[in-house]
Amino acid sequence: MEDEDLPPSLSPLAPRPGAIYSGAMTSQTHDRLLIVDFGSQVTQLIARRLRELNVYCEIHPYQNVDAAFLRAMAPKAVILSGGPDSVTREGSPRAPQELFEMGLPVLGICYGQQTMMTQLGGRVESGHGTAEFGRAYVTPSEAKLDILEGWFAEGREQVWMSHGDHVAEIAPGFEVFGTSPGAPFAITADPKRHFYAVQFHPEVHHTPNGALLYENFVKLAGFKGDWTMGAYREEAIERIREQVGDRRVICGLSGGVDSSVTAILLHEAIGDQLTCVFVDHGLLRKNEAQEVVSMFRDNYNIQLIHADESALFLGELEGVSDPEQKRKTIGRLFIDVFQKHADSIEGAEFLAQGTLYPDVIESVSFSGGPSVTIKSHHNVGGLPEKMGLKLVEPLRELFKDEVRALGRELGLPQSFIGRHPFPGPGLAIRCPGEITAEKLAILREADAVYIDQIRKHGLYDEIWQAFVAILPVRTVGVMGDGRTYDYACALRAVTSVDGMTADYYPFSHDFLGETATRIINEVRGINRVTYDVTSKPPGTIEWE
Ligand code: XMP
Repeated sequence: MEDEDLPPSLSPLAPRPGAIYSGAMTSQTHDRLLIVDFGSQVTQLIARRLRELNVYCEIHPYQNVDAAFLRAMAPKAVILSGGPDSVTREGSPRAPQELFEMGLPVLGICYGQQTMMTQLGGRVESGHGTAEFGRAYVTPSEAKLDILEGWFAEGREQVWMSHGDHVAEIAPGFEVFGTSPGAPFAITADPKRHFYAVQFHPEVHHTPNGALLYENFVKLAGFKGDWTMGAYREEAIERIREQVGDRRVICGLSGGVDSSVTAILLHEAIGDQLTCVFVDHGLLRKNEAQEVVSMFRDNYNIQLIHADESALFLGELEGVSDPEQKRKTIGRLFIDVFQKHADSIEGAEFLAQGTLYPDVIESVSFSGGPSVTIKSHHNVGGLPEKMGLKLVEPLRELFKDEVRALGRELGLPQSFIGRHPFPGPGLAIRCPGEITAEKLAILREADAVYIDQIRKHGLYDEIWQAFVAILPVRTVGVMGDGRTYDYACALRAVTSVDGMTADYYPFSHDFLGETATRIINEVRGINRVTYDVTSKPPGTIEWE
């Protein structure tokens, strides 16, 4: 499922008190747009639409936004997001009243529209048959509105609605500019004050011309659209220099996009004050360790500790076949090993991490409740406190696609930027059952042939992730005149936007047949190839 295709149904649960947001008001050199978050599941998409317009914006939870906050941040415009609550409930969230007295353009979306109406003297009612969920069509009224420039070219616009409450009476000064069957006040505005209020969600894919509304809004608010990756790079470098001074930084490098971009950015900022630690746990793909090490040492001249700890990891994993035990063993060893090497770097005070904006925003779950652990993910959480290190997180404001753009800006080769994600526990979770050196060697070869096939057929960039899993079964085959009794393997390839959900990739039968033949001919130890056609859910992407 694409993230833009998320059903924008609003969570029936309360907004996330205590959610951790990017508190840093980073850009002092660019115009800032504030998104006040009332807890909609699609608030992040508003930020994405704005970033696509080169507008710098920050999402902050409504609880943090008061008059003092507004003065300190000094945004040039404000968007009030949707949210799951009902403005008719006593004590429900509000925007600070001062916001409406600051002369700023304000756009209210769904819940944001309703609180705006309520706070400015209109009235909102609950339900009673006017709830609208899903696709709806808005038709214009006679009067023209600047924010609707380019809209209604076909007479009506498709929008995505998701509301139980509705505006029953608009606030003084407001006029109606668009209606839908279920929302007589689908688009209202007070053009003099540049207050705009829409009932639908322009940020989602199902409002096909929604981006234009945002474009018009930021244009009329006077944004220059100057928040580019080039500018971000310069500012991020300045900030790192300011934070780190003349002290030393350690960076855990995996060869993935996030940690690679973090390392290169830091290296540009502080040069030899940076040391990267690359832990080779012996569970990497064919040639991977050499590729990562030479890329950073030869091309960037970055100080890099190549910690070859494969004997330790493989030793501790001997006889372990339970997936969770594998993950936990690897996680524990990884932290120990990382710490051991980091301790050898004298005077290090900072740990650099490739934390992204979605990690920051999502750090508290919507439900607030404990969720079932499907897999223990491997990360280095907890390390900074344990080691007494401060964090440097230069990608905290960026979405994944922006990290890739920054990587390009920094000259990182496309082969690194476009790489499929590779999990921290590596091949261990692609080798169900006990891990042995023999199985790993077979798996590496089979994986290399498979990826080579995908690249040769020009399919690599269409696929989110592709890999081989070696199965813990041997099957009988016949090759030439002889009997074989070798391993079976499964090919996996999925499309996805964020790894949360995934579909299997529909390879042609010719491709699958050709790939199976190549693997069986070229890889000793495999005599049977299967293709995994499970989506996620109900499957997961990795096998363990
Ligand atoms: P699953 O198998 O949970 O995987 O559907 C979703 C995405 O996460 C990756 N993955 C991991 N990444 N540490 C990581 O850094 C891990 O422990 C881990 N486990 C799974 C997986 O490759 C896929 O992209």
